[in-house]
Amino acid sequence: MGATLLTLIFPNRNPRGAREDYMPSFSEILNRPTIFLDRNVLSPHYIPETLPFREKEIEWIMNGLSPALRNERPRNMFVYGKTGTGKTCSVKHVMGKLAQHKENSNAHSCYVNCRMYNSRYRVIQKITKELLPSVDSMGFGLALLYEKMMEEVRSSGRQLIVVLDEVDMVKDLDDLLYTLTRANDELQKGSITLIGISNKLSFKEQLDPRSRSSLCENETVFAPYTATQLQAIISQRAAMGFKPNSVDESAINLAAAICASESGDARYALKLLIKAGEIADYKGASRITDKEVDEARRSVDIDVAFEAISTLPDHQQLVLLSIANLALDKGKNTRLTTGKPEEEDSFLTSGEVYEEYCKNSRRHRKPRRSARWYREYLNELEMLGLITTIESGHGMRGRTRLIRIGYPPSDVKKIIEQNLSIIESA
Ligand SMILES: Nc1ncnc2c1ncn2[C@@H]1O[C@H](COP(=O)(O)OP(=O)(O)O)[C@@H](O)[C@H]1O
Ligand SMILES: [Mg+2]
Repeated sequence: MGATLLTLIFPNRNPRGAREDYMPSFSEILNRPTIFLDRNVLSPHYIPETLPFREKEIEWIMNGLSPALRNERPRNMFVYGKTGTGKTCSVKHVMGKLAQHKENSNAHSCYVNCRMYNSRYRVIQKITKELLPSVDSMGFGLALLYEKMMEEVRSSGRQLIVVLDEVDMVKDLDDLLYTLTRANDELQKGSITLIGISNKLSFKEQLDPRSRSSLCENETVFAPYTATQLQAIISQRAAMGFKPNSVDESAINLAAAICASESGDARYALKLLIKAGEIADYKGASRITDKEVDEARRSVDIDVAFEAISTLPDHQQLVLLSIANLALDKGKNTRLTTGKPEEEDSFLTSGEVYEEYCKNSRRHRKPRRSARWYREYLNELEMLGLITTIESGHGMRGRTRLIRIGYPPSDVKKIIEQNLSIIESA
């Protein structure tokens, strides 16, 4: 994927003027000058020693969990907030602190990433594996796994804290929550406490009222970071991750401002910083300036779009391709006729996109779906931020849905055409 993105961003570039057929060696690559000091520190998986601006949230979680250290069952907790607001790293930070009391308490925590363990069965299998690493649970049924887990908690008297990160990804979540909270009724010694974490603010409403009241006994919201906070967070990381004097202060400020205006997402801010560093290295530059941050932004946006687009089902890709094609055509035409695009004209009508989609389906030999499905696809593309739509007023077109693409259409077109040709040749 890296190579694909690089060719998208630098279509005609040849690093350091090398000949086309030139093949580098690993040792040469390793010896190339770089402004990175420690890339790990800049990775979104790195958990810094201190987490500025999350002191209150961390204390709230610690407070909630403290009964476990007195051998009592803590109440369940629910942490929510947008992506990149530090939920995962704050909870993991507290888990680290709890582990320091391993010797003199029964408190024990277990982290489950529900993006990977996305069903009741998988979550319970993961917990059992953590508690009993030597047991090979492959092929065990749910009831047996549950019994193993319960036996272990009962016999050790553990106050087990299960962190369910991205809990909304669990397919049978109501069943999982019911199983894990009811487990406490069967335990005279030891207990199970849940910490649910979610990026989806609205997901609580979809829960069964019983699950909701048990998981959300206690909840806290992580607010998006402001520009000043992001600035402090990324300067802290830049100071550890890059060589001295290799990041302009204004570049940090720009990265922070970009992220604050879009989402307040610290992960995005770090991605921008790493990408800006890679771009500086690629150019053989000795510092990151505003220019590299600007270029990084475009590349990170494409990265995000690339991930989202590549996992779309075929028909949604075809709808998006149709939108990209029409947007490109329209761009050419408006520039020809008026010289500058009108606001209304940057939108496509739902009807013309559907027509183009039918053509593209024929071209790619996929039986086209009905207009009802098509409207569903538009909703999903909009939810992923790949397009925006508005209802037109009572203008000359009557009432219709107007569509605008969220990323540069030429990039989107390249990504989809590549994907579709891979799928078709497979
Ligand atoms: N307050 C903070 N201080 C330093 N780094 C932070 C802070 N909040 C988030 N980060 C960094 O941002 C990235 C994303 O944080 P994460 O906890 O994964 O967010 P979330 O789980 O809310 O999506 C991680 O690399 C983390 O180290
Ligand atoms: Mg997270």
